[in-house]
Amino acid sequence: MSVSTSAAWQTSDDATRIYANVLVPVLFGPWAEDLVARAQIAAGERVLDLACGTGAVAAAAARAATITALDRNPAMLEYARSTGIDVDWQSGFAEDLPFPSGSFDLVLCQQGFQFFSDRTAAATEVARVLRPGGRALASVWRNPEENLWAAAVISALETVSSSWGESMRKPFSLSGDQLASLFDGGFKNVRQVRVRRNITIGDTAVFAQRFIGAVPFLEEIAAQSGAMEAVTAEFTERLNRLLSNGGITSAVSVVIADRA
Ligand SMILES: C[S@@+](CC[C@H](N)C(=O)[O-])C[C@H]1O[C@@H](n2cnc3c(N)ncnc32)[C@H](O)[C@@H]1O
Repeated sequence: MSVSTSAAWQTSDDATRIYANVLVPVLFGPWAEDLVARAQIAAGERVLDLACGTGAVAAAAARAATITALDRNPAMLEYARSTGIDVDWQSGFAEDLPFPSGSFDLVLCQQGFQFFSDRTAAATEVARVLRPGGRALASVWRNPEENLWAAAVISALETVSSSWGESMRKPFSLSGDQLASLFDGGFKNVRQVRVRRNITIGDTAVFAQRFIGAVPFLEEIAAQSGAMEAVTAEFTERLNRLLSNGGITSAVSVVIADRA
């Protein structure tokens, strides 16, 4: 299995399956439904799911529209294609989209911008591929303190290695305000919504084990004797504590912008 610690949060084949089967149902699918509902897609609209991963947003949107979905990660795309959803899956980079100007009515991007190496270029590309009057909706996690499952896994990783804790902060490295400011050029009516929900995890020990199995720096954890067991046990215990304290909360910022 090859994994990478790349800042773009690239996953291996195995990690991609865990991502799709364990993380998406808990951490991405419900938010994808929320993002698509917010987008109020009209029949026949041309939609781009940017940084589609295994296709959580594309799947939620495909019922209503003509969907193209793009990601840089071959393992994610291979999984997405295997779902058989009627989507045009494309390999590519957000910073250099392989589409003519004005190709889309709507661009959706769930939990993608924080991983882009050039976020400004990606926002400029979103503006370019949208038709005038089209719209963009992008989401990012709010900070770990508002995503208690994340605070739990960061703390669990830090008990063994501060650098693993630091790597786990990457998904929370872009605030809603920073995301909104990327849409200053080429857009109007840029607005931001904070959305909060309780999440249902099921068996915390199973979830913790699978979650750690899907991180891009898994190889480093696996290479250190006892680390996997220690981090998983600590993460499980912290999740259980959250559950006994009334549930596990999660929050994202959604930025909505109209193409000028
Ligand atoms: C946390 S996942 C989110 C995936 C999906 N949107 C979802 O909600 O499940 C982040 C995705 O961003 C992709 N990504 C990172 N950098 C990228 C880039 N420069 N261009 C395109 N995709 C990128 C990764 O490959 C990964 O699939």
